[in-house]
Amino acid sequence: MKNEKIILITGASSGIGAATVDKLLEAGHKAVITARSTDKLNAIVKRWGEDKVLAVTADVSIPTEVEMVFKKAQEKFGRIDVVFANAGTGANSPGIEKGLPDEWKTMLDVNINALLFTAKASLAALRKTQGHFIITSSIAGKITLKGSVYGASKWFAYGFGQNLAAEMAEWKGRCTIICPGMVNTPFFDEAKPDKLDPSDIADAVLYAISANPRCDVREISLMPTN
Ligand SMILES: NC(=O)c1ccc[n+]([C@@H]2O[C@H](COP(=O)([O-])OP(=O)(O)OC[C@H]3O[C@@H](n4cnc5c(N)ncnc54)[C@H](OP(=O)(O)O)[C@@H]3O)[C@@H](O)[C@H]2O)c1
Repeated sequence: MKNEKIILITGASSGIGAATVDKLLEAGHKAVITARSTDKLNAIVKRWGEDKVLAVTADVSIPTEVEMVFKKAQEKFGRIDVVFANAGTGANSPGIEKGLPDEWKTMLDVNINALLFTAKASLAALRKTQGHFIITSSIAGKITLKGSVYGASKWFAYGFGQNLAAEMAEWKGRCTIICPGMVNTPFFDEAKPDKLDPSDIADAVLYAISANPRCDVREISLMPTN
């Protein structure tokens, strides 16, 4: 395919990440998919074939595991054009007074530290391809949410994405922050069928990476109409 891109996606085993893998492969691109759930990743490879998808099991909150994913991606495809830093998690106990520090630590390790590790592991490869880094922040990263540590972690992702965009612009790299409202994914214990569908976010990713190279789509916000 002309303009075929090699796209590395974190949090690819479920929800937004898994829907984005399908959308990008349908569009003729190839993917490196990572998450901790080997079985779910392997099911995606089985669906699309090993020539189009490489699955690498990793915990993105561990820097050496993130580096290993990038090494295997380069070995398989020889380059990386796009990185979609999408892995994220929430906390069950809301608020500060009733919140649980251990839960915060696990969540911040994924929503903040893993984002940093993924960005650091990406830049040398993306510089070579004048590539694209995409972040899943959230509407929760743009509004006040009473006592929400999750929301604050998404403010970090939103602010970090803007600073990273400025750094990448020095070599014509592009950086997009995606800010969805509520999406019907396994992130929630109960289904949210009247909210956004994960495929809506996948459409936004495809739009951002398909833009003319002169156009850096810096930010996309999506809200359910309901
Ligand atoms: N759903 C929403 O309403 C919504 C709205 C705005 C933003 N978001 C953001 O969208 C992103 C994707 O969430 P989702 O809704 O698609 O939820 P999800 O279905 O629960 O997916 C989360 C993904 O992150 C991966 N992950 C979590 N911890 C990880 C770790 N330590 N190492 C590697 N992978 C890890 C999970 O894979 P494994 O468990 O297999 O490791 C899974 O693939 C998150 O950043 C979330 O904050 C969601």
